[in-house]
Amino acid sequence: MTRHFLRDDDLSPAEQAAVLDLALRMKADRFAFTPLAGPRSVAVLFDKQSLRTRISFDAGIAELGGHPLVVDTQVTHFGRGESLGDAGRVLSRYVAAIVLRTHGDDRIAEVAAGATVPVINALTDGYHPCQLLADLLTVRQWCGGTEGRTLAYVGDAANNMSHSYLLAGATAGMHVRVAGPAGFLPDPDVVARAEAIAAGTGGSVRALTDPVAAVRDADVVATDTWTSMGQEDDGLDRTTPFLPYQVNKALLEHAGPAAIVLHCLPAHRGEEITDEVLDGPRSAVFDQAENRLHAQKALLTFLLTEEEKR
Ligand code: CP
Ligand code: NVA
Repeated sequence: MTRHFLRDDDLSPAEQAAVLDLALRMKADRFAFTPLAGPRSVAVLFDKQSLRTRISFDAGIAELGGHPLVVDTQVTHFGRGESLGDAGRVLSRYVAAIVLRTHGDDRIAEVAAGATVPVINALTDGYHPCQLLADLLTVRQWCGGTEGRTLAYVGDAANNMSHSYLLAGATAGMHVRVAGPAGFLPDPDVVARAEAIAAGTGGSVRALTDPVAAVRDADVVATDTWTSMGQEDDGLDRTTPFLPYQVNKALLEHAGPAAIVLHCLPAHRGEEITDEVLDGPRSAVFDQAENRLHAQKALLTFLLTEEEKR
């Protein structure tokens, strides 16, 4: 079976650790690894906007010796009824891997069902697993490791980042607390899956409504936009209920003394996070953004190596 990376838990704890180990080696010797030399091509497809994901995959594939094909799907047949399974099947004849940012998780699952090369989730409505590899790499670098560390994510706890923190954090042996207002809490199935993973890694997970309880003594405090792509006109009040969850100096006072701050970006400064925190000494946000490049290069290398073993 072709290995895909559609959700954070598509990597076992040992595999996730191996990808992060490789990412660190790639970061230390950036141009030394060329598994795509030939060059082999990778398709990177976007149903939604992007800055970091787009450029880090484009640059990363080139650095691996490959040829990136970065395409906005409006110029393809994606939006006009071509079967996504057929698209996955066709693209597999051209490229070594398919990277896709899209809406529903059913869409990427359809592409993967047809594909015979690895399919990588570059963000869906449900998950953002490539971002989490970068976040965990950042936690390793700033906190000395992930196991036993406490990560608090506050804000829209029903979104893709919240779900990925639960799954990837549990896989990394972290104690993950996500907190959001009532109505913006994670999918109970994802919480249950994260609990099952945590039982095997020594981590734990909790979904809360109290932001102070979530960040208390945490090693990592993370947040994200209150309005994800596609939610702009969903009719919900995406400001007032979230105000107590803003990552600001007062909230951070409840975190551990050396706590770091993460945000996947783009940030809405003055909403989910203040300038003072984002630009302050505890912010690891720009290392986190850089780590997208290294983590994705390692992930691609891992999946291509798995493919060669088949
Ligand atoms: N963090 C992240 O995925 O950013 P982009 O939407 O700019 O790719
Ligand atoms: N939750 C955000 C993440 C952006 C990188 C969104 O889906 O828009």
